[in-house]
Amino acid sequence: MKFLNNRLLSVILGVAVLLAMSVFLTSFMVNMRLPDNHQGFEPVQPIAYSHLLHAGELGISCLHCHTGAEKGRTAGIPSTNVCMNCHKHVTAPILSVRAEDEQAAKENRPPRRIFSPELRKLYATTGLDDELKPDSSRTASGVAWVRVHSLPSFVYFNHSAHVNAGVLCQTCHGNVETMERVRQVSSLSMGSCVNCHRDPGLTASTGRKVTASTDCVVCHH
Ligand code: HEC
Ligand code: HEC
Ligand code: HEC
Ligand code: HEC
Ligand code: HEC
Repeated sequence: MKFLNNRLLSVILGVAVLLAMSVFLTSFMVNMRLPDNHQGFEPVQPIAYSHLLHAGELGISCLHCHTGAEKGRTAGIPSTNVCMNCHKHVTAPILSVRAEDEQAAKENRPPRRIFSPELRKLYATTGLDDELKPDSSRTASGVAWVRVHSLPSFVYFNHSAHVNAGVLCQTCHGNVETMERVRQVSSLSMGSCVNCHRDPGLTASTGRKVTASTDCVVCHH
C-alpha cells in the first residue's frame, strides 16, 4: 500500500513537473525569436522593382505574379517572362515617353524609342541588349532577387493552406502594395503563427468557423 502510494505520488509529481516545464517552455518559445529574426529586413534588390507601382498604382493582382501561393508551399517569384510580357512594349516610364513624343513633334521628326536604365538591367538578364536586340555576349540568367522572408528549416509552412482559407497576404506581409521596396513586416516568430492558429477568426464559405491546429507536429515535422 505504502509502495503504491509512493509510486502514485511520484507519477503525479512527475506529470506536474513535465506540465510546468512544457507551459514554461511554450510561453518562452512563443515570446522569443531566434537571433536571425529578420523583422524590418529590407534588402536592396538588383533591379528597383516597385510593388507600390505595379501592385498599387497599376493594380496587378498578387497572384498574377506569385502564382504558387494558391497552389503549393511557396508563393514563388515570377520569371522574367512575366515582366517581359509588358516590358517588351513598356521600355520607359510613360511620362518620359510622352515628353519624347512631344519633343519629336516639335522638331518634326519621328520619336526615338527610349529605354530606362532600370529596365535595361532587366533586358540584360534576358540575354538582350540595351535596345531589346539579342546579344550573344549575354545569357538569359534571370534576376538574382534577394530573398526577404525565410523561416528556419525546421519549420514547415504552406502558402496554399492559408490563401485558400481566406488569410490575406497582407495579414502576414503587411501592405506590400504600398512598398517601393519589400520589407519584412511580421516577426514570423512562433508566437505570430500560434496566436492566429488559436483563433483564426475566419468563416469558410460553408459558414463553418475555420480552425487551425496548434499541434507541434503541424509546423515541426
Ligand atoms: C508584376 C509582378 C508582381 C506583382 C503583381 C506582385 N509581386 Fe511580389 N514580388 C515580385 C518580385 C519580382 C519580387 C522579388 C523582388 C522583391 O523582393 O521586390 C517580389 C517579392 C515579394 C515578396 C518578398 C519575397 C521574399 O523574398 O521574401 C512578397 C512578400 C511579395 N512579393 C508579396 C506580394 C504581394 C502581397 C503582392 C500583391 C499586393 C505582390 N507581391 C504583387 C513581383 C510581383
Ligand atoms: C502588366 C504590365 C507590367 C508587368 C507584368 C510588369 N511591369 Fe514593370 N512597369 C509597367 C509599367 C506600365 C511601367 C511604367 C510606369 C510609369 O509610367 O512610370 C513599369 C515600370 C517598371 C520599372 C520602372 C522603370 C523606370 O525607369 O521608372 C521597373 C524597374 C519595372 N517596371 C520592372 C518590372 C519587373 C522586374 C517586372 C517583373 C517582375 C515588371 N516590371 C512587370 C508594367 C508592367
Ligand atoms: C500565414 C502567413 C502568410 C500569408 C497569408 C502569406 N504569406 Fe507569403 N510568406 C509567409 C512566410 C512565413 C514566408 C517564408 C516562408 C519560408 O521561409 O519557408 C513567406 C514567403 C513568401 C514569399 C517568398 C518565398 C516564396 O514562398 O516564394 C513570397 C513571394 C510570398 N510569401 C508572397 C505571398 C503572397 C503573394 C501572399 C498572398 C497571396 C502570401 N505570401 C501570403 C507567410 C505568409
Ligand atoms: C492570420 C492567421 C494565421 C497565421 C498568422 C498563420 N496561420 Fe497557419 N493556418 C491558418 C489557418 C486558418 C490554417 C488552416 C487552414 C485549413 O485547414 O483550411 C492554417 C494552417 C497551417 C498549416 C497546415 C497546412 C496544411 O498543409 O494543412 C501549417 C503548417 C501552418 N498553418 C503553419 C503556419 C506557420 C509556420 C505560421 C507562421 C509563420 C502560420 N501558419 C501563421 C492561419 C494562420
Ligand atoms: C503554427 C506553427 C507552429 C506551431 C503549432 C509550433 N511552432 Fe514551434 N516554431 C514555429 C516557428 C515559425 C518557429 C521559428 C521561430 C523563429 O524563427 O524565431 C518555431 C520555433 C520553435 C523552436 C525553436 C526555438 C524558438 O523559440 O524559436 C522550438 C524548440 C519550437 N518551435 C517548439 C515547438 C513546440 C514544442 C511546439 C508545440 C507546443 C511548437 N513549436 C508548435 C512555429 C510553430
